[in-house]
Amino acid sequence: MKIVRTVAELRAQLRGQLRTAFVPTMGNLHEGHLSLMRVAARLGDPVVASIFVNRLQFTPNEDFDQYPRTFEADCEKLEREGVYVLFAPDENELYPVPQEYRVSPPTGLGDILEGEFRPGFFTGVTTVVLKLFNCVQPMVAVFGKKDYQQLMVLRRMAEQFALPTEIVPAETVRAPDGLALSSRNGYLSPEDRARAPMLHEVLRDTVQALQVNGVAMRSGADSSSVKTNSQTQSGADIWPQALAAEQKAIARLSGLGWVPDYVSVRRRADLLPPSLADVANATPLVVLAAARLGATRLIDNLEV
Ligand code: PAF
Repeated sequence: MKIVRTVAELRAQLRGQLRTAFVPTMGNLHEGHLSLMRVAARLGDPVVASIFVNRLQFTPNEDFDQYPRTFEADCEKLEREGVYVLFAPDENELYPVPQEYRVSPPTGLGDILEGEFRPGFFTGVTTVVLKLFNCVQPMVAVFGKKDYQQLMVLRRMAEQFALPTEIVPAETVRAPDGLALSSRNGYLSPEDRARAPMLHEVLRDTVQALQVNGVAMRSGADSSSVKTNSQTQSGADIWPQALAAEQKAIARLSGLGWVPDYVSVRRRADLLPPSLADVANATPLVVLAAARLGATRLIDNLEV
């Protein structure tokens, strides 16, 4: 594996490559990242990974300085996966001058859920990803569904800027007890690590309840077509069962000592709340959650 530190070296290394598959990361690699490398290897050649802890996507009270940096171990893992080039620029290389031009994700996608609790996060992500894409010029780029909203934000960016890079989703990798793998799991105390799978359990139960309710509504056996005061952005009524399921999940997590930021049922395609019509049409949904356990904030999601 070639480790390159500069954009010029990277371009020289990749000259003439038309089928590059790219996996951007912030390092501290675990099995979840390595599964992205394997998806990339099936889709293109060569596989290029990047490691860059992107200051732009951290809010001032977040863990930029503490973010785990494990470069040597990461290189060994990538080498074993057969990655051809690792692009690992330092901050001066990627941001030689203050990054004044930024990508601003649309309100309604970038400002909801994670965007509401981490203002500026998606601007930081889209700006660095666009820049990395310009450096690597990949045919495909692979992103994990664990960061579901990030995937949607990047997919829409690629569509709206007509980028020549296909955004490919990869499934979330979980520990045997259900906890989604994440670099931030390393911050959990042993006690909190033992309690952390509860987030997945709550999501699983929520999905199950929604599936039962969705089937009941489509078969006419449910009275939830009663009007509510909550409306989707289009003005249609939000499916009341979704709101009830969210509240139940939040209450359950709170009761177990978590501090939930949100548990939210959304349409997969645009992350808007589902209307009654969406449920009648069996529009694909996803449940997304973010909650703090001790000092660690975890996110997860499950498709319905
Ligand atoms: O998902 C991540 O690790 C980061 O948000 C990404 C996509 C590498 C951008 O810094």
